[in-house]
Amino acid sequence: PRPLLMDCDTGIDDAVALLYLCLTPAVDVRAVTTVAGNTSAERAARNTLQVLEVAGRRDVPVAAGAGTTLRGETRPEAAFVHGEGGLGGVALPAPAAAMDRRHAVDLIIDTAREAGGELEILATAPLTNLALALRKEPRLPQLVRRITVMGGAVHHPGNISPVAEANIGNDPEAAALVLSAGWDLTLVPLDVTMRENLTEAHRQRLLASGSPVGRLAGEILDFYFTFHEETALPFRGSALHDPLAAGIAVGEVVPKTAPRLAVTVDTADGAARGALVADTRGIHLGYPTQPDANAAVVLETDGTFPELLVERLFRTPAG
Ligand code: BDR
Ligand code: CA
Repeated sequence: PRPLLMDCDTGIDDAVALLYLCLTPAVDVRAVTTVAGNTSAERAARNTLQVLEVAGRRDVPVAAGAGTTLRGETRPEAAFVHGEGGLGGVALPAPAAAMDRRHAVDLIIDTAREAGGELEILATAPLTNLALALRKEPRLPQLVRRITVMGGAVHHPGNISPVAEANIGNDPEAAALVLSAGWDLTLVPLDVTMRENLTEAHRQRLLASGSPVGRLAGEILDFYFTFHEETALPFRGSALHDPLAAGIAVGEVVPKTAPRLAVTVDTADGAARGALVADTRGIHLGYPTQPDANAAVVLETDGTFPELLVERLFRTPAG
């Protein structure tokens, strides 16, 4: 299996993505690092330990990282999206495993070095930890095989402002740094994550699956469904932001359209702060491929991921 590190802000959809990764034989989850976003970095790390325990992966090191943005601001927690504590208000037993003593930044760098150039990274949260890791180890892009980032909005509206998506918009300076670092980067924006949806029928199947993993996913998704139904979707269900990015990172979701584009982030203080600026002139005006392209940007997927995900989460974990 391919070694993979997930940097996240667990978070309901981060948790579902992690459960999916744990049950996917093609990848070996080597470490998980957390950052403030949906909840605090420490709470996200605790949530991650609890999720890993249900998935039978107490052995995976989990380290908490940045609690503020690169500029030092404290981000508001998104309890209205992910519930009190980040997992939809679902109470789980205290995790048996302890947190790794390292800072997330050091766990990222150590894990990359140990994997000898093979490590793949999945980032599903504000990009502060990765920006700090790049500052500390500028050769990180050479130590990593590829990185997949859930974030941004190209033609789709934002979700924390008219134009900014949460993972990019909650630390624009960090995102700008990570996007321009020169690695093999795939960006999974709201344009696709808002269109691959779970429904209440999926959730009921998860709850009835008899697998602890399926049940946990079904339980935490309840809150997420209510949020989506009230604010973002015309039915009871949810987007699949972080799980879809995981599916793409693993290679089980093959994008239908993923042009290589030059992408940057608006870091000015103003109405567009945190917006992804993607040069789509090639697509719309027929410009030739941009020589300065720095990311493959997923603009279309085939809609089959929700079913694949639900089936996978049925599997009983190894224990
Ligand atoms: C992203 O923001 C978070 O709330 C989700 O976990 C996802 O990573 C979507 O904009
Ligand atoms: Ca997330």
